[in-house]
Amino acid sequence: MPDAQPWWTSTVIYQVYPRSFADSNGDGVGDLQGIIGKLDHLVDLGVGSIWVSPFFKSPQRDVGYDVADFRDVAPEYGTIDDAQELIDQAHAKGLKVLFDLVLNHTSDEHPWFVESRSSRTNPKADWYVWADGLTGRDGKPKPPNNWRSELQLPRRWQWGEERQQWYLASFLSFQPDLNWRHPELRAEMFDMVRMWLGRGVDGFRLDIFGSIMHDEALRDNDRRPMIESGMPRVQASNHTVNTDENFILAADLRAVCDEFEGDDRVLLGEVFGGPDVLRRYVHDKGRDGLHLVFLFEFLASTYSAAKYRRLIAQFETDFPAPLVPTYVVENHDRARSLSRLGGDLRKARVVATLLCTLRGVPVLYQGQEIGMENQYIPLRHANDPIPGVVARWLPEWLNKRMPERLNRDEVRTPMQWTPEPGAGFTADGVTPWLPINANHRTRNVETETADADSLLNWYRALLALRAERTSLHSGELTLLESIDETIVFVRRSGDDAVVVAANLGSATLQVPLALGGDGPVLLTSDRGAVVRPGMATLPPHAAVVIDASTSA
Ligand code: GLC
Repeated sequence: MPDAQPWWTSTVIYQVYPRSFADSNGDGVGDLQGIIGKLDHLVDLGVGSIWVSPFFKSPQRDVGYDVADFRDVAPEYGTIDDAQELIDQAHAKGLKVLFDLVLNHTSDEHPWFVESRSSRTNPKADWYVWADGLTGRDGKPKPPNNWRSELQLPRRWQWGEERQQWYLASFLSFQPDLNWRHPELRAEMFDMVRMWLGRGVDGFRLDIFGSIMHDEALRDNDRRPMIESGMPRVQASNHTVNTDENFILAADLRAVCDEFEGDDRVLLGEVFGGPDVLRRYVHDKGRDGLHLVFLFEFLASTYSAAKYRRLIAQFETDFPAPLVPTYVVENHDRARSLSRLGGDLRKARVVATLLCTLRGVPVLYQGQEIGMENQYIPLRHANDPIPGVVARWLPEWLNKRMPERLNRDEVRTPMQWTPEPGAGFTADGVTPWLPINANHRTRNVETETADADSLLNWYRALLALRAERTSLHSGELTLLESIDETIVFVRRSGDDAVVVAANLGSATLQVPLALGGDGPVLLTSDRGAVVRPGMATLPPHAAVVIDASTSA
């Protein structure tokens, strides 16, 4: 049966972090030719799309999330021709390509900002968000309102000496926010989006899209400490994040994508908020917006069958078909999932099973498939700017115990391809931009390819099955009642059905399979699992996928 749904509803996305993926020219920094050279790994793995973190011209103070030219490539990563080759080669191998768009801000070294900050009257004066401030009791300039940055730093405003005005910087001080109310800026940004779409890009991941439009009247945020998406906030973000104008911009951007043949380009938003807010990004006031939004609850959750079951049920309710939820446990900002799982590869196999068999788009981060772990790097050695601004005072012993990594370098170490020095990321003798994890001698693509029981081969098997079975990539999901430590669900599309059963407990358990489950076992994460009609006996931290088509 041909799939009537657009490709992105059933794809698997793999995030490539260019600086750490593969270094083709021996300078210790990954590059676009490096990615091109490794596309076969992604084909073998069985993903459908790559999302490439920013490789545009940039001073790299936030590793490319501080763009200095949206239309050009940073020289250490290659050229515009390399970017085109990446798109074309990926397509030739059947992969879709998503680029990463940082629409909220630029680098303060972007020529637009250099011009904008130079006077109140230059042609780009209003391409960024400038405001007069207040005067403090000490006579010094004070920002116009109480807005805190997304990192909850006291000020979302930075002082521009030449203009004697404040500029908005929602993330870090060197990332000034663009003014999307300015017609010329808007037109230029949309044209830039068209340029990449015209070159064949299949879509974009949208960086901190939730902050893109702010309250025009600059009203104070409510003073309400709270936990939002698992993160502590000193104040509400009612006038800085998820404003009504964000949803309009999402729809406008969608319209730009839909100008292109096939209407099948995809927008994936990095946005945070409750289900009502997230759904408004997808569809609001009769207009379609982003196709997909990240759901980060799985990533933030501890490993627990009860918690995961609750989240699966919630995602099903919040994003019923034809909406599509996303499942993600790792990215370049957050701790490696295997490290959060205490290094237990059995648990990693269970999590992989869930990601690849639930209804939704899985988003994997490079190295997740081989079980890469955090590489501890002290705050004082951080290349990442965040420790420098939020954790200067933090003692190292406390940093080591933090569940999330304040120094994001720890989750961005080079991809581990081989056991050799340089890990196949770079040549032997070259100093990579971040240290290579010592566990690369055993944890790498080459070694794991040769080991039938490796995590890598488990991911490959899961993704091959997912591609093969319509029920898995496009079917509906029914979550079954189950005992505390287990998760059981059915995926079904017409006559094609599979049952997935997982034991997340530390004892062997009998798992009733209620519906179907009498067919052959398609995959098992642990050879000790035994499946009999209607019942699976699962060792601790084990998962099975069973064919249920015959009993449909
Ligand atoms: C997003 C990116 C992060 C970056 C920030 C500012 O959260 O994932 O890496 O530092 O936006 O662009």
